Amino acid sequence: PDTTTPRAAGADFVVVANRLPVDLERLPDGTTRWKRSPGGLVTALESVLRNNNGAWVGWPGVPDVDVDPIIEDGLELHPVPLSADDVANYYEGFSNGTLWPLYHDVIVRPEYHRHWWQAYVDVNRRFAEHTAKVAAQNATVWVQDYQLQLVPKMLRMLRPDLTIGFFLHIPFPPVELFMQMPWRTEIVEGLLGADLIGFHLPGGAQNFLFLARRLAGQPTSRGNVGVRSKLGVVQVGFRTVRVGAFPISIASAEMDEASRRRSVRERAAQIRAELGNPKHILLGVDRLDYTKGIDIRLRALEELLETGEIDPKETVMVQLATPSRERVDSYVQMRSDIERQVGRINGEFSRVGYPFVHYLHRPIPRDELIAFFVAADVMLVTPLRDGMNLVAKEYVACHSGLNGALVLSEFTGAAAELRQAYQCNPHDLTSVKEAIMQSIADDADTRRRRMRSMRRQVLAHDVDRWARSFLDALAKGKVAGPALMSD
Ligand code: ADP
Ligand code: F6P
Repeated sequence: PDTTTPRAAGADFVVVANRLPVDLERLPDGTTRWKRSPGGLVTALESVLRNNNGAWVGWPGVPDVDVDPIIEDGLELHPVPLSADDVANYYEGFSNGTLWPLYHDVIVRPEYHRHWWQAYVDVNRRFAEHTAKVAAQNATVWVQDYQLQLVPKMLRMLRPDLTIGFFLHIPFPPVELFMQMPWRTEIVEGLLGADLIGFHLPGGAQNFLFLARRLAGQPTSRGNVGVRSKLGVVQVGFRTVRVGAFPISIASAEMDEASRRRSVRERAAQIRAELGNPKHILLGVDRLDYTKGIDIRLRALEELLETGEIDPKETVMVQLATPSRERVDSYVQMRSDIERQVGRINGEFSRVGYPFVHYLHRPIPRDELIAFFVAADVMLVTPLRDGMNLVAKEYVACHSGLNGALVLSEFTGAAAELRQAYQCNPHDLTSVKEAIMQSIADDADTRRRRMRSMRRQVLAHDVDRWARSFLDALAKGKVAGPALMSD
C-alpha cells in the first residue's frame, strides 16, 4: 500500500485535538523539523492511535505554516494551520486565558473577551470542516479537550453519518463557576453534538448533566454516574447523548519495562552520584503551569529547611519544568516567581557545588526522564487542581522495586485512584509539609506496602483500557437509558 498519501476514501478513525502529536520547530538556519509536543494528552493518545491505524487532525504548533499531511508509522497527520492572530485569540486567549483558569477553579482570574470568543468559534469551525474532509463515511471521530468544545455540534451538522465522541482532559468545573462563562449555553450545546461525552471523574459528568438541563433545557438522567459504568443520559430531540467518567492513564507496562532496563538503572545511579549521593532525592516533573503547585512545594521545602527538619546536606530537590504557553501573561509572571523562589532557596541553603534545588527549564528526553523517576526517593505532585496528572502514575509505574514514595495533592484526578499516596491539601502548607516529612520518615515496609497497592492500580488500568472503555461505550451507543428528568 501507498504509505505516503492519505487514504482517498478517508479514515475510519479520526482523533481531533488542538495539537498534533508533533510540533513543527523552526531552526535558526530557517529549516524546520518535527519534535514531540508537550503534555499528557499526546502521551496518552499517541499509543492508542498507532494501534488503530487512524488519522490525527491538529495544529502543527507554530503560527502561519501550511504543511501537507504527513504519514508517520501508519498514522496520518493532518495539520490545521493557525494564523498568528488565531494563536493569540483562540489558543493563548480563549483557550488558555479564559477556559483553562475557569476550569481550574479560577486559580488565576479568567478573562472574558468577545474577540477571543469569536476566534474560538472560527477556529472550532475550521477544525470541524477539516475533519469532515478527512473522515470516511460512517467513521468514528474522537474530539479532544477544552480547545475544541464546539466541534462536536459543528461536525454533526456537516456530517450526520459520523459517530462522534468527546473527551475533556481537564477538570469540568463546579456549576457555580461555569455559570460565569458568557457563552455557557453555546459551550454546553456544542458538546451535546457528541454521542458520548467523557470526563475523568463522575463529579465532572454530574456537573455537566445539571448544566444540560439548566442551560440547554434538555431532559437528563438523575442517578449518580459511575467510573467506566452507569453512564448518564441527555435526550436531545431524537438523539441520546451519553455522559460518563473515564479516568485516563499511561502506557503502564511500557513504562515499567523501560524503568527496569539496565541502561536506565545505570543512568539513575549516575544521576544520584552527580547530585552528590544524597540520602533523599525529591523530584517534581511538570509543565511550567500555575495549576501545578510548583511554588507550593518549594514554599513547603523552604520552611522545612528553615526549621532544620530537612537537612540540605542529605536532601536535594530536582525540579524538571517544561516551558509552556510562554506568551500568556500569567505564565510569564509565574515563571519569574518560581525562578526567584529557586534563587532564594539556593541562596540560603546551598553550598558551593551542591545546590539544594536543581531546576531545569526544558523538556527532558523520555529515557532520561524515566531515569529521574527511578532515581527519586520522593515524587512531589502538588497541583491546586489537575484533571488527572499522568506524572503521578508514571512515577508509580517506574518503581517495580517498591522503593519510592508519592506525595500527591487531593485536588488531582489521580488522587481518586492512588489512595495509598501521601495525600495532602495544597491549600494547607502544613498538610504539604507533613506529607513530605511522613514520606521520608516512614519505614521501608510501609513505603513498600503503599507503592505495591498503587502499582496494582496503575498496571491494571492503563491507557489502552481507558481508550477501550471509552470507544466501546461509544460504539455500543444506543442502549436504553435510565428514566429522564427535566428541570
Ligand atoms: P499536563 O497534561 O497538564 O501537562 P500531565 O501530568 O497529565 O500534565 O502530563 C504531562 C506529560 O508531560 C507527562 O507524560 C510527563 O512525563 C510529561 N512531562 C512533564 N514535564 C516534562 C519534562 N520536564 N520533560 C519531559 N516530559 C515532561
Ligand atoms: O492535558 C491538557 C493539555 O492542555 C492538552 O490539551 C495539551 O495538549 C497539553 O495540556 C499541553 O498544553 P499546550 O498544548 O497548551 O502546550
